[in-house]
Amino acid sequence: MADAYPLNTKIIFAYRDRETAIGEAADTIVSGGIVVLPTETVYGLAANAFDENAVQKIFAAKGRPQDNPLIVHIADQSMADGVAVDIPEKARLLMDAFWPGPLSLVLKKADAIPHAVSAGLGTVAVRLPQNDIMLDIIRKAGVPLAAPSANRSGRPSPTTAQHAAEDMLGRVPLIIDGGPCGVGVESTVLDMTGEVPVVLRPGGITMEMLEGAIGNVGIHPAVLRGLHAGEAAHSPGMKYRHYAPNATVFVFEGDKKTIAKTVNSRYDEYNKKSRKTVIFCDAECAPLYAGKSIRVLGDGMHEVAQALFRELRQADELEYQAILFHYTDDMGLAVKNRILRAAGN
Ligand code: TXA
Ligand code: MG
Repeated sequence: MADAYPLNTKIIFAYRDRETAIGEAADTIVSGGIVVLPTETVYGLAANAFDENAVQKIFAAKGRPQDNPLIVHIADQSMADGVAVDIPEKARLLMDAFWPGPLSLVLKKADAIPHAVSAGLGTVAVRLPQNDIMLDIIRKAGVPLAAPSANRSGRPSPTTAQHAAEDMLGRVPLIIDGGPCGVGVESTVLDMTGEVPVVLRPGGITMEMLEGAIGNVGIHPAVLRGLHAGEAAHSPGMKYRHYAPNATVFVFEGDKKTIAKTVNSRYDEYNKKSRKTVIFCDAECAPLYAGKSIRVLGDGMHEVAQALFRELRQADELEYQAILFHYTDDMGLAVKNRILRAAGN
């Protein structure tokens, strides 16, 4: 596979050449190629979801394990019936409430979806993204798109086309630059195949929002910790170390003042050992770390989520060796899940 690289990668700015961007992306997809595309969550690496050969190129370009299935992206609700079967009533309610938007529904797969997409499972994750460029490309190509995040496996997901290019230059023929992603973390993945729907990955659509629409929703225990030895991974993505920066990430949560004391003394200890260290926190906690090297991720859940992956990449560029992450509940489950993964939990 390695001999397929480097390719010549073309970058098109969609806000400048919208028609060209949509046309060339759709052509590439229809002819069996892969393209980096913007969505509202993170950048995706897309191929025709019905084309097994094209889907294999995604796995190769990302260096992604074959047993981790891909999300299938559609442009309107009726396309769901071409990729999934026996769609439950609750799933229809969620589609009405949250599509287009950052929600992927795990449904029974239609035969037309190749095993490469579902990684051999009988299910498929389906989502209708909220990004006009992406939606126009799906419509123009006329097929659903299988698309994981456009990072190399194990790297933080890209929230700008530049980040995607850092990972994918020479590995894909085309990158569509649609500007920075608004949400900043990947979609909520919700398993609809059991009695009670279960969150396999928290994201932009929160538990509260889901329960507001359909009532009781469960959360898989591995979302907020690692898997126990021998425990089956519900969402194959759970078992891999994700979003990993080069720095070692330490997560602290609890009473604000107590945490600040711990973080400050850990910071001083690392500094003495010349270990290049940065503190990540929200706007409210920033005053607790006066005089220290800190990154304020933002104020509230949405800002912190949007900044998270960008800040993890930046910390790598600045060659930090340790990130001390002061987590507060205001940041939300999606952020908590991502930093626990970044910390290798
Ligand atoms: O926001 C997003 O979801 C982005 C953008 C590009 O749409 N995509 C994304 O894809 O994050 P990816 O491949 O990086 O993450 C997909 C996650 C993985 O954890 C995978 O295991 C899970 O969804 N998944 C996919 N299909 C599944 C299935 N049939 N059953 C259970 N989990 C599934
Ligand atoms: Mg990913």
